[in-house]
Amino acid sequence: MAKRFSALVALAVGALLTTSCGGGGGTTSAGTGGGGDAITMGFSQVGAESGWRTANTKSVQDSAKNAGITLKFSDAQQKQENQIKAIRSFIQQKVDVIAFSPVVESGWDTVLMEAKNAKIPVILTDRAVDSKDTSLYKTFLGSDFVEEGKKAGQWLVQEYKDSKDPVNIVELQGTTGSAPANDRKAGFAEVIGADPKFKIVASQTGDFTRAKGKEVMEAFLKSTPDIDVLYAHNDDMGLGAIEAIEGAGKVPGKDIKIITVDAVKDGMQALADGKINFIVECSPLLGPQLMDLAKKVVKGEQVPARVVTEETTFTQEQAKQVLSSRQY
Ligand code: AHR
Repeated sequence: MAKRFSALVALAVGALLTTSCGGGGGTTSAGTGGGGDAITMGFSQVGAESGWRTANTKSVQDSAKNAGITLKFSDAQQKQENQIKAIRSFIQQKVDVIAFSPVVESGWDTVLMEAKNAKIPVILTDRAVDSKDTSLYKTFLGSDFVEEGKKAGQWLVQEYKDSKDPVNIVELQGTTGSAPANDRKAGFAEVIGADPKFKIVASQTGDFTRAKGKEVMEAFLKSTPDIDVLYAHNDDMGLGAIEAIEGAGKVPGKDIKIITVDAVKDGMQALADGKINFIVECSPLLGPQLMDLAKKVVKGEQVPARVVTEETTFTQEQAKQVLSSRQY
């Protein structure tokens, strides 16, 4: 009897440890009641760095509930080591499927191989990994970030088509090493690179946060004279930069033209107010498609290797029209 009791205590402690190892912010579990073929998904989220991320987390959580999928959710607080710990914890807990949005592109092969060896399918959502071995995951659902960067560049080229003067651009990059930072930079550079009048005079990471966006823009304003354009890899950094620009006595959207990516409510409001000039949409509403893909991969059905999110762009006029109906 005593032996059985201590075995039970050990099991309970083990379960607690597994949960607390699930990532920097801990793992939370949302049960659905389940049934014979109920699915449990382990989901490792990047963090809560932006309005986009908050909307994405809500979309995943709501969609799991609607699909009857039990979600074990872990917030990595923008740290790769937390995501690796969370994925290992999901493997230990024998979840049916793992989905994650990798904070950076590199360094995933070992842990993804562990999931593969445990026969747990992995779905990449929002961000990609740069693993050569594509058998380590079943599919990648998310935006085409290179295309987003190109759309930002195309607007700029059009905006300055009649000008012969140099156009000085400062760039607020997303998290260093992340797929959206790498790809949005590359797509933008490719398009503006065709005309030598466009010059990126300063480029630094703002880690996708409002606070960092403000801080880095303040430094740009001090060190770099004659800034014509700000290209921010997300709305939040752009919104932080607007505070810095106003603090320096300049008018955002006029003295400095601003292009951002995401189209979250606060960004769209600033666009409608004339403080941002153009936004490239990046949709965070990936939850419903993610749950459909999860059901298919758990059943062993074939899914496309890549599912690209449909997105658009917004001018100031378009923002005024759609603002009231934005979901996030
Ligand atoms: O991976 C998507 C990017 O991550 C969003 O554009 C940004 O706001 C977020 O933090």
